[in-house]
Amino acid sequence: MNLTRRSLLASASAMVALPKFSLANTDVEVLEARRSAVSLVSDKYPDTEVWGYNGGVPGPEIRVAQGARIRRRLVNSLDEPTTIHWHGIRIENAMDGVPGITQDAVQPGEDFLYDFEVPDAGTYWYHSHFNTTEQISRGLYGALIVEEPNPPEVDHDITVIVDDWRLGDDAQIDPDFSQIHDWSHAGRLGNFLKASLSPTLTEVKKNQRLRLRFICVATDRVMRLALTGMEGKVVALDGMPLSEPTPLEMLTLGPAQRADVIVDITGEPDTDAVIGFVGREQSIALASLKITGQASLSSRGDIPRLPANPMKQLGDIEGAKVAELNMEGGAMGGLRQGIYKGKMMTAAKLVENGQIWTLNGVAGLPDTALAEVALGETLRIPIINDTAFAHAMHMHGAHFQEILPDGSFGPLLDTILIERQERREIAFTASNPGDWVFHCHMLSHQSAGMITWVRVTA
Ligand code: C2O
Ligand code: CU
Repeated sequence: MNLTRRSLLASASAMVALPKFSLANTDVEVLEARRSAVSLVSDKYPDTEVWGYNGGVPGPEIRVAQGARIRRRLVNSLDEPTTIHWHGIRIENAMDGVPGITQDAVQPGEDFLYDFEVPDAGTYWYHSHFNTTEQISRGLYGALIVEEPNPPEVDHDITVIVDDWRLGDDAQIDPDFSQIHDWSHAGRLGNFLKASLSPTLTEVKKNQRLRLRFICVATDRVMRLALTGMEGKVVALDGMPLSEPTPLEMLTLGPAQRADVIVDITGEPDTDAVIGFVGREQSIALASLKITGQASLSSRGDIPRLPANPMKQLGDIEGAKVAELNMEGGAMGGLRQGIYKGKMMTAAKLVENGQIWTLNGVAGLPDTALAEVALGETLRIPIINDTAFAHAMHMHGAHFQEILPDGSFGPLLDTILIERQERREIAFTASNPGDWVFHCHMLSHQSAGMITWVRVTA
C-alpha cells in the first residue's frame, strides 16, 4: 500500500483512540509512573500515598541475563514530567534518561521507549531523573539485577533496597521537598527507615548461604548497616566484582551505592539473623530472619569471588588529562558568590534561586563541560570537598576508580562518598561517547546546585 500523508494522519489519529496499553502488544513491558497507595509502615497505619512504577514501591525488579536487551516503555501517568535513569549501567547515551541532556522530559500522558543492552553483570537500579528529590522520595525507583552466566551457588539471592522516608503521624510523605535548611545541611533525612527484601525472606537455616544485594535508594542519608547472625564477604560494589572480596564488617552505603555480600548464616537455631541500621543514638533492626534449624553440619567453605565484568580497569595514568573539582557552599561553608544560569550572583541571590552549593564556582548545570575527553583518553578528577558535609558523587555512563594515596587504584565505582574537607581523586578511561552528568547523589544537594557534566567525544 502506498501510504499518503493523509492516510498516515488517519492511522495516527486511529492510534490515539486505542487504549494506551495496546502498545504492550509489541512485547514491550510498560513501566507506568503513577500515584498509588501502599502499606509502607504497618497495618496499624493508613496506607501511604506514593508515586511508583506500576503501582508499587519499589517498582518491579528487573532481572535479566548479562548481555540481554532491556526494553521498557515508560508511560507517564503523573501530573508532571519524568524520565528514567538506569543507574550504573554502561548505556548508550540516548538511553541515559537525563532530561535536557540525553532526551526531552516525558510529559504527562506521554511515553518513551528505553531500549538498551546490559554489558555488565551486577546490582544496579533505575529511578526517575526529573525533579529527583521529590520523585525519588515519593517512590520512583526499582532494582535492576543483571545475572552472571554462572552465578556463585547460594541458597537465597535477595535484593535488599534500603530507603529513608520522611513521614507524618498519618504515615503520609512530608510534601515539603525544598526546605533550605535540609538542602544546605545533610539533605532531606527521613524518620522511617525501611528495607524491602525481594523475594521476601523471613526464615533461614544455620549454614545456609545468602547473597544479599544492598541498594541504598535514600535521597540523602548515608546508611551504616551491620549484619548479625551471619558472616561473609563483600563481593561487589556498585555492581562491579571486587578482585579480592573483603571481610564484611560495617557496611557504609551512601545514596545510590550498592554492595553485594555473600554470607553464611552462623547464628544458632531459634535466634534471629538481623540486618541492622547503626545510628548515632540507636540501632534499628531493618530485617530479622528467623533461624529455624540447621541446613547442614558445617558451613560451605570459602566465599568465591565473582567473575570480572568486561570493563577495562585503569592502566597507565601518566599524561592523563586532569580536571579539578572544587566543592563549595552549604551551611558553614562560607560561600560568597557563584555563577548560576550564566550570571554571577551573591550567596543571598543564589539562595533566592534555591541554589546553595557550587562545583568550580557554578551552581546548577554549567554551559561548558567539566572536561572533554576522547575515547580511550584517561581523565583524572581530583575532588576537593571544601564544605562541612559529605557528598556522594555519581558519574553517569562510566565506572571510575579512586587513585589511592599510595598510587594504587581502588575498586570500580559509579558513586563515591567524600567526607567533609576530604580530598580524593578519581580517574577513568573514556569508553562511552556522549555527554554524561556528574553530580552529588544526595539529591537535595544536586537540586541545590551540585551537578556538572563530562563530554566524551567519539
Ligand atoms: Cu542515580 Cu544521575 O543518578
Ligand atoms: Cu552533596
